[in-house]
Amino acid sequence: MTNIKNDLLLRAARGEKVERAPVWLMRQAGRIFPQYRKLRASLSGFKELVETPELACEVSMHPVDELGVDAAIIFSDILVIPEAMGLAYEMVEKKGPNFPKTVQTSKDLDNLIVSDGEAVHYTTDAIKLLKKELNGKVPLIGFAGAPWTIFAYMVEGGGSKTFSKARRKLYQDREFSMRLLDMITDSTINYLKAQVAAGADLIQVFDSWAGMLTPVQYKHYAIPYLDKICNAINEVPVTVFSKGAYFALEDMNGLNCQTIGVDWNMNPKELRKIFPDKTLQGNLDPCQLYASVSEVKEATKEMLSVFGTQRHIANLGHGVYPDTPLDSVRAFVDTVKESA
Ligand code: CP3
Repeated sequence: MTNIKNDLLLRAARGEKVERAPVWLMRQAGRIFPQYRKLRASLSGFKELVETPELACEVSMHPVDELGVDAAIIFSDILVIPEAMGLAYEMVEKKGPNFPKTVQTSKDLDNLIVSDGEAVHYTTDAIKLLKKELNGKVPLIGFAGAPWTIFAYMVEGGGSKTFSKARRKLYQDREFSMRLLDMITDSTINYLKAQVAAGADLIQVFDSWAGMLTPVQYKHYAIPYLDKICNAINEVPVTVFSKGAYFALEDMNGLNCQTIGVDWNMNPKELRKIFPDKTLQGNLDPCQLYASVSEVKEATKEMLSVFGTQRHIANLGHGVYPDTPLDSVRAFVDTVKESA
């Protein structure tokens, strides 16, 4: 294992003593940076960036170099897994992801594969490059989507306010649903293991659409698959971020992961009681960063004081919005760093 100079993130995740909370932002590699927007505009599209390891590495370094965050996250997307399984995605400008074909029947599933660790070679290659570039400065976070969230995109065919096509499937075809979730889970485990082998120091699983399910559905269609992933990744700490899953916290406490990501709807004091032995990551409202710099500083201090210094990873409650002023992002990061 390489020696990591700033290992605050890893210590916080393992529950070891820290001088201050580590800080990074979900979706920190991307459009908040003018250099990202410039590079992105010179390319054929989002996928070229994701699939060119040198460029993915370069973009992952922006927040490390410009903001001094305590972790790098590899630039990629959760949708690389459906593609590796045989369901290609496109990223439509100003609209978001689209799947020209979706999966609806067991016959569709026959045409998919469980992808192996080599499948998303461009991202594992980018991790190797980034690891070299970081040279032990800060830890490198690898990631994937959670099975339910990936299922939602593969069945729905893109983003949705309701994900009603995907949710409908859970009611109408339990066998199809479980078979697809199994295939996604196994592909994701292979992919995450390959990321760890390539150098990822911590893994985060994004269940962005957790909040769409009922508590009973989350128990049946999300927790067992998250459980399988957590149990398979033993070499590095794992963070599970289930956005909006305030109804499933007790089940999440049973997961074999070190850190739970929490959004801004959740109350840190109550969370500490529910997760006595886990690290918590979050949870400033990303919209708070549109307030004045002095208000951002105050809100960040308030967040730090409610969570307490130990077992906390400072972050937003969801990804940073692309038009967030960089000065506010800096104020957020600097306030955490000055808190020691
Ligand atoms: O965190 C990081 O900085 C690493 C990079 C990263 C991206 N996507 C890059 C990206 C990560 C961790 C993701 C995860 C992701 N992708 C999630 C889970 C996190 C979350 O926000 O809930 C989801 C749901 C996706 C799917 C996805 N990718 C959507 C819905 C979109 C379009 C919406 C949007 O943000 O524009 C994307 C595109 C995408 N992924 C962009 C980036 C930087 C926008 C890229 C561009 O057009 O240049």
